[in-house]
Amino acid sequence: MKDCLIIEGGHPLNGRVRVSGAKNAGLVLLVASTLADGETILDNMPRIRDVEVMVQILNELGVNARWNEDGSLSICPPPAGSMKVKTSYELSKKLRASNLLLGALLGREREAVISLPGGCDIGSRPMDLHIKGIQALGAEVDIEHGFIYARSKTPSGARVYLDFPSVGATENIMMMASRTPGQSVIENAAKEPEIVDLANFLNSMGARIRGAGTDLIKVEGVPELKACRYAIIPDRIEAGTYMVGAAISGGDVQVENVIPTHLHPIVAKLQETGAIVEETDQGVRVRAGRQVLPVDIKTLPYPGFPTDMQSQMMALLSLAEGSSVIVENVFENRFQIVDELKRMGASIQVEGHTAVVRGVKTLFGARVKATDLRAGAGLILGALAARGETTIENAIHIFRGYENIEEKLIQLGARVKTK
Ligand code: EPU
Repeated sequence: MKDCLIIEGGHPLNGRVRVSGAKNAGLVLLVASTLADGETILDNMPRIRDVEVMVQILNELGVNARWNEDGSLSICPPPAGSMKVKTSYELSKKLRASNLLLGALLGREREAVISLPGGCDIGSRPMDLHIKGIQALGAEVDIEHGFIYARSKTPSGARVYLDFPSVGATENIMMMASRTPGQSVIENAAKEPEIVDLANFLNSMGARIRGAGTDLIKVEGVPELKACRYAIIPDRIEAGTYMVGAAISGGDVQVENVIPTHLHPIVAKLQETGAIVEETDQGVRVRAGRQVLPVDIKTLPYPGFPTDMQSQMMALLSLAEGSSVIVENVFENRFQIVDELKRMGASIQVEGHTAVVRGVKTLFGARVKATDLRAGAGLILGALAARGETTIENAIHIFRGYENIEEKLIQLGARVKTK
């Protein structure tokens, strides 16, 4: 399997690029489809590795999930009561989002046995808030031998306060609550656009969810949900990655198929660096400024600056005319790109959750490795601007989340090949 991306730097990105469906909305909608009876069809689903793994996980549970010729994905769960409820370690360890089956299976089968996802490169990522939520709704939970065993014989709606607005915990509680009798209320809920997409999707299937996109979500449980056809929102992080690509490479890119409001936190920071960003009828156009200005960034839950864009901005700021401070507030270990960018000549110092990026005149091509998906994206951006050739190893991390990235970059004028 190809696992290296080789990029010759110095070729600006120019032209148009079409953004794919959002990975993180696609994954949760795929899981949520199992809450309904009948065949759900999802349009705009990105054909990326994480989605392929989720399809395999669902197939293993007895769900018929398959791609159609028109690019949509059909999901047809088995008759009620006959879906398997235990996810395997082998597949779950490849995909943390497999933990979203907790809420969906509890909503549907009243039972779930979920392989604990374990630590990952960007942090320890505990599940305490997910568990607190499902327990409040009446689930009994045991953790044994690396699995979460959850059962909810007589679930009922309840109030849940999340100590942190966790995206995954909010999604799991919404899915379970949508088929739990009574009213559930999630306080300090996550407000990400992917949460709103999940609520819209569940409501299209007959759920009764209000308040998604605010920190108070109310769910009236319904006895059944019906399959529907639904198009996933565009990927704001993929869009942001190409936007930074235009700025770092000295290019001019029209990023199409976007929801501009989802991009506001990214646009605001990109403009502060001196890039010229305008909303057009087709999407967002980004032109590089004459120079990159230093800016300070704090990652925060939406509508704050997304942690999933932190590595890409770090690559850009490593070429700024001055020093920038980046504070990572969401994941404890998301600075792994730093040592790789340093191999390319960047000057970055990390102290706890804070990175000080001193801009340098030039980055140089080097052999580097993608430690996680977004670090990989940041390295691609650094490589586009670097002098000489960069080889990015472990590119499999990048293919997990970016659809047709090699083709899209080539179409924009980059010199990229895989090996
Ligand atoms: N957290 C807890 N306890 C919990 C749950 C979360 O302490 O029970 C902590 C986490 O350890 C972390 C913080 O809360 O420090 C945020 O985690 P959250 O639950 O919000 O993240 P997630 O649901 O695991 C999703 C995305 C991530 C994205 C984050 C934040 C999916 C499949 N993944 O993860 O996407 O970074 O929200 O926006 O939706 C990516 O696409 O590269 C990616 C990592």
